Amino acid sequence: MPDRKQLINSMREERTIRSFVKRSGRITRAQKAALSDLWPRFGVDWSPRPLDLDGLFGRSAPRVLEIGFGNGESLIEQAAAYPESDFLGIEVHEPGAGHCLLLADQSKLTNLRIALHDAQEVLQWQIPDGSIHRINLYFPDPWPKKRHHKRRILQPDFLESAARKLAPGGSLHIATDWENYALHIDQLLAADPHFRVAERREHSGDNALDRPMTKFEKRGLGKGHRIWDWRLEKISH
Ligand SMILES: C[S@@+](CC[C@H](N)C(=O)[O-])C[C@H]1O[C@@H](n2cnc3c(N)ncnc32)[C@H](O)[C@@H]1O
Repeated sequence: MPDRKQLINSMREERTIRSFVKRSGRITRAQKAALSDLWPRFGVDWSPRPLDLDGLFGRSAPRVLEIGFGNGESLIEQAAAYPESDFLGIEVHEPGAGHCLLLADQSKLTNLRIALHDAQEVLQWQIPDGSIHRINLYFPDPWPKKRHHKRRILQPDFLESAARKLAPGGSLHIATDWENYALHIDQLLAADPHFRVAERREHSGDNALDRPMTKFEKRGLGKGHRIWDWRLEKISH
């Protein structure tokens, strides 16, 4: 039995473990301006209450959620390619969000919104249960050191939360270029009751599973990494 002190420490840790560290990073003047000028058009403010997605997008349509979109280039590419779907991107890195907003404006997209907040909280609080058609998690931070593995966003509670937000028949798409993360994902999936592995691929950047190439994928390939892709189907109980 853990003593009282251990219990309090582990509860504190549970509340504070994040899958990211806020990097100050360099933000350009244009990205900073985009974050204020374009936010009213594309931005979703943080609030711990469920969003009215039909109201947010001004229509009813299949909804795709992308977690950790980085600089947003592949998110924009998908939103432009599938105008019949709505895309909600979530990121915490402000320069990346600014970059994405500039591209969204240039592409005149009407089916894209972005949230600048911890995706785990957005998922838990703002996304209504059963409202999402597809969730994309492309090249999540690998946290390669063993002592940091607890920071990996893919954990049993993330899978449980993702499954709850997906509509019946919905899917979760994952890609990584870190062999040790791929192993972790396979192990998680073997024990997970919410998803069925519909497809799994290992390749050299030449056989991606229904997605564009991303910035971090290119970076990984440049280092000689392999790529792993999964398409997981939600199991409806
Ligand atoms: C390795 S990058 C991959 C970016 C992009 N998907 C790609 O493939 O080029 C991971 C991104 O996830 C973001 N991220 C990590 N944890 C997050 C969280 N809890 N909520 C939102 N974004 C997160 C990071 O800020 C970072 O931009």
